[in-house]
Amino acid sequence: MALLVIAAFAGLIGGALPFSIVPSAGCQTTKIPTRHPRFDAPFDAPPNARGTTTALASTTSEAPTSHGGVTKGDTKGANLLLTDLNISTGAGNTILKSINFRVDPKERWGIVGPNGCGKSTLLGAITGTVRIDGGDALVASKVRVGYLKQTAVSGSTRTVREEAASEMQDINDAKFLMDRLEERITNGDASEKTLNDLVSAQSRFEDVGGWTQDQDVDLVLKGLGFQPSDSDRLCSDFSGGWQMRIALARLLLSQPDLLLLDEPSNHLDSSARDWLATYLANYQGSILLVSHDVALLSKAVNSIAEVSGQTLIQYVSCDYEKYLSEKAFRAKSAMAEYERNMKEAARLQEFVDKFGASATKAASAQSRVKMIEKMRREGKLDPPPMGIVETRWKPSLVLPDPPKGIGEKLLVLKKASIGYGDGSPPILEGIDLVVNRGVKLILRGPNGAGKSTLLAALRGKLPLLAGERIENDRLRLGVFTQDLAQELDVSARAMDLVTDYARGGPDGDITISNQDARGVMGRLGLSDEKPLRKVGELSGGEKARVALSMFALKASNLLLLDEPSNHLDIECIEALGESLSNWGGKDGSIVVVSHDRAFCESVGFTHVGTVMDGALVIEERGLEERDWARYDIAGSASGGCDDVVQTAELTPEEKAEQERKRKLAFNAPKRMVKIEEMMAKAEIKIAEYDEQMMNFGSDAEKLVEITKKKKKEEDGVAKLMEEWESLEVIMAEMCAT
Ligand SMILES: Nc1ncnc2c1ncn2[C@@H]1O[C@H](COP(=O)(O)OP(=O)(O)OP(=O)(O)O)[C@@H](O)[C@H]1O
Ligand SMILES: *[C@@H]1O[C@H](CO)[C@@H](O)[C@H](O)[C@H]1NC(C)=O
Ligand SMILES: [Mg+2]
Repeated sequence: MALLVIAAFAGLIGGALPFSIVPSAGCQTTKIPTRHPRFDAPFDAPPNARGTTTALASTTSEAPTSHGGVTKGDTKGANLLLTDLNISTGAGNTILKSINFRVDPKERWGIVGPNGCGKSTLLGAITGTVRIDGGDALVASKVRVGYLKQTAVSGSTRTVREEAASEMQDINDAKFLMDRLEERITNGDASEKTLNDLVSAQSRFEDVGGWTQDQDVDLVLKGLGFQPSDSDRLCSDFSGGWQMRIALARLLLSQPDLLLLDEPSNHLDSSARDWLATYLANYQGSILLVSHDVALLSKAVNSIAEVSGQTLIQYVSCDYEKYLSEKAFRAKSAMAEYERNMKEAARLQEFVDKFGASATKAASAQSRVKMIEKMRREGKLDPPPMGIVETRWKPSLVLPDPPKGIGEKLLVLKKASIGYGDGSPPILEGIDLVVNRGVKLILRGPNGAGKSTLLAALRGKLPLLAGERIENDRLRLGVFTQDLAQELDVSARAMDLVTDYARGGPDGDITISNQDARGVMGRLGLSDEKPLRKVGELSGGEKARVALSMFALKASNLLLLDEPSNHLDIECIEALGESLSNWGGKDGSIVVVSHDRAFCESVGFTHVGTVMDGALVIEERGLEERDWARYDIAGSASGGCDDVVQTAELTPEEKAEQERKRKLAFNAPKRMVKIEEMMAKAEIKIAEYDEQMMNFGSDAEKLVEITKKKKKEEDGVAKLMEEWESLEVIMAEMCAT
């Protein structure tokens, strides 16, 4: 009897996994990639693919490349296959270990995880810019890879349109060939071969979308927020943020089979973000999208891979929301399993303790000791891996209280004209803005309306073209902007930057100790040796935390923040929002530009300023639902041609609907002919049933049956008729526009 129980129990616990995970409905658990023998020398590998490049997530302003350092090889049908991939820093710290991951065609993955966990490093390993310590990162041989770095900048001297179109390879190749043949003909070569070649070159050009190239380019540029008149301006005229958009446009237009994007929305305003999300959701290739932007992730991807505990935890076919619930579920089941095992081991141990010395029970006790040992060997008594049950450590930020006892007005702009001079007209005119103490102001407004420009003028960084800027003589400004964070001196030690800033300047505090700085940095997650690293050896989000630490060490009474949430992970954004909402009281003021809804709602603004059409309107109220509606583009489209304005006003849903209609209209003529044929066939059947009904007039049962069939056929015809009519309406609509 005892034996039987033991056998059954052994069977129950005999699985090889230390714990098992039961997938909840609809979500698959980790997908195990197909193993394959390792390549000693991957064929097709460019010389710099492995072992030779050491730069880790380098910060040079290098253009994104759509080919280059990837390693090609047998991926077992996947677009990308990572096998037993190990990556560590130069100093030997493991960043990622034993990663197995496969990305199939058309899969769209979101890569998530806290700042510094290794997301950019992973993309670097795939593209050959980060050294791999072990395992393989292989891309299928026919797959074209496109990559947008977290720090990408276009840096080109071409026009925006030329640059955006420059990597539309198929089209550009076809055009090159066509142009050459045309030139030959112009130069007098009228041979039949040349003419035939030209015809086939032209049809190739048409097949790859050559005739719609300009429209495609315009659409993407418009989606990313460019005005029609921008297309012919030089790339070098644009700021870093806008050059990033040009690089993104070029990458999207090159239509790679595998699209690797590292925080592409950091430099985008809300309407461009919306557009990008929709664009990615409909993308034909596969995607790896690294982002902290929940709205973007929710829309654009259909699977999530989380970097956690140095590994990649995969949630196949889970959108962002489902990933969150699945993650909680997995943690719960793993924990429950672990507790069950511990309880079982305790029960066995109790028996051993009680009867181990007894002569009659010694054998049973011994077998129980073996069972416990087996559980231990199998890892059943180890707590579940960090990556699964880890409740993330939360950063926190404490801002020093603003100095008290200053007047009512902190900073005033009077009849200010704001712009960049050089003969170009001011962006904002007649601006009257009084920042009183205790005010928390959010600046909203269409893309390019001048929110950041206004902030720069408030800071005193951008001199006014006309009007006055009046500072309270006890004003202490605290500034945190995206650019500030990403443009810190890469060769300086993080710690030195923070302490120098806090101690220096007229309002510096020389009593701030290294320990104070370490405390602030540590609470923001820059712990251990990280404060001693060079800024260039930190991740994008870690750099932003260095800038935040600077900000947090100096007492200020006016905080100016421009897109502060970019690069920061979700926990850190929450920490920032919370500290701002608790800060200031009646003495401190805040002015913020941000598109991040969750963040903005956590701050608790007292005033909303709208920057639009060269003016500023301030209302004393909190944020409301309508503030997140798409006012953006409608306001900025003044001056564009009508056609542009019209499409620009559409929401993504409306655009999708229009696209659906366009496709329908395109296929409508064929479909209508088909429907007519089907209707004719159905009509013949109905006629047949009529005839049968006459013949079976006396057989009630048969009559009922035929009547049913006839009714079904007639319903079918009615449906077809309906569809035919709707297609006709769509055709008429599309012709009219
Ligand atoms: N050039 C470098 N030299 C040494 N270590 C680096 C370098 N760049 C990044 N690291 C470290 O490698 C780890 C992973 O960095 P990575 O940039 O991949 O993070 P990430 O997940 O992309 O973070 P973020 O969300 O902030 O962009 C971090 O600990 C980071 O400090
Ligand atoms: C990766 O690292 C793990 C643990 O550090 C090691 O066991 C494994 O052999 C390594 N894999 C390869 C392919 O080098
Ligand atoms: Mg990164």
